[in-house]
Amino acid sequence: MEIQYDFSDKSVIITGGAGGIGYGMATAFIKAGANVLIVDINEDALNKAQTALQTLGSGKVLTLKTDIASKENDQTIIETAVKEFGRLDVLINNAHASHQKPFVQLTDEDLELSLSTGFYPTWHLMQLAYPALKKSQGSVINFASGAGINGQPTQAAYAAAKEAIRGLSRVAANEWAADNIRVNLISPIAETAGVKAWKQAAPDQYTAMVNKIPLHRLGDPEQDIGAVALFLASDASSYITGQTLMVDGGDIKLR
Ligand SMILES: NC(=O)c1ccc[n+]([C@@H]2O[C@H](COP(=O)([O-])OP(=O)(O)OC[C@H]3O[C@@H](n4cnc5c(N)ncnc54)[C@H](O)[C@@H]3O)[C@@H](O)[C@H]2O)c1
Repeated sequence: MEIQYDFSDKSVIITGGAGGIGYGMATAFIKAGANVLIVDINEDALNKAQTALQTLGSGKVLTLKTDIASKENDQTIIETAVKEFGRLDVLINNAHASHQKPFVQLTDEDLELSLSTGFYPTWHLMQLAYPALKKSQGSVINFASGAGINGQPTQAAYAAAKEAIRGLSRVAANEWAADNIRVNLISPIAETAGVKAWKQAAPDQYTAMVNKIPLHRLGDPEQDIGAVALFLASDASSYITGQTLMVDGGDIKLR
């Protein structure tokens, strides 16, 4: 069953929106009529995404090639959306890069990569977006991971950044509730290009992972993760804030 959302005249920022889950969410928001600013470090992917997305909806698709790891770039991201669209309704902090190694082998540079692409931009973009979100009574969607919630081996730097994002999100949800700005998180499992490549390279491992998921499949970036992002950004979820939604086929049960 497809639920119809109307985001006409609303504006959305998606970091890491040129690939993977970010692109799936961009597709969902464009089809729902939103104006979308896709931010990504990969110019080629951005150009392809813009060409494809423009045909799917009546809203504007803007792209910004930028590295979210720099605070100056974060300022440009918010200013671009507000200037071009006249408002900001939804900030989605999705991009996040990391290295995986056993904890004792992880370097300060590995930790910095995860903090500078995941935690710091989430922090800065939320602060910078606050005035515009207050005006629109908008919402923030951040990204968590089962790696952090479950403490997955080799993921210490990534897990630390992801759980820091969850802590920040809960504080902001409490502080900004008075402004009717909602802050929630998605903890996804989705079949992205990287996972598809891994499926080719290690089919047995892939099958074992899928079998461990109660619903026995990986999520679709648009149909599964994008659908929940639309719900969290819409009035249908107006009584939900500070929550982590597990969009992972039942893999992890939060207590
Ligand atoms: N795919 C999953 O199953 C899964 C599981 C748990 C959590 N997550 C989380 O979901 C989110 C999306 O994951 P994904 O699998 O789609 O990721 P991905 O790696 O497929 O895509 C991330 C996008 O971010 C962009 N990006 C990377 N570094 C950037 C930077 N410094 N500046 C700007 N853009 C940058 C990339 O170019 C890419 O387009 C992430 O926060 C990830 O940690 C994903």
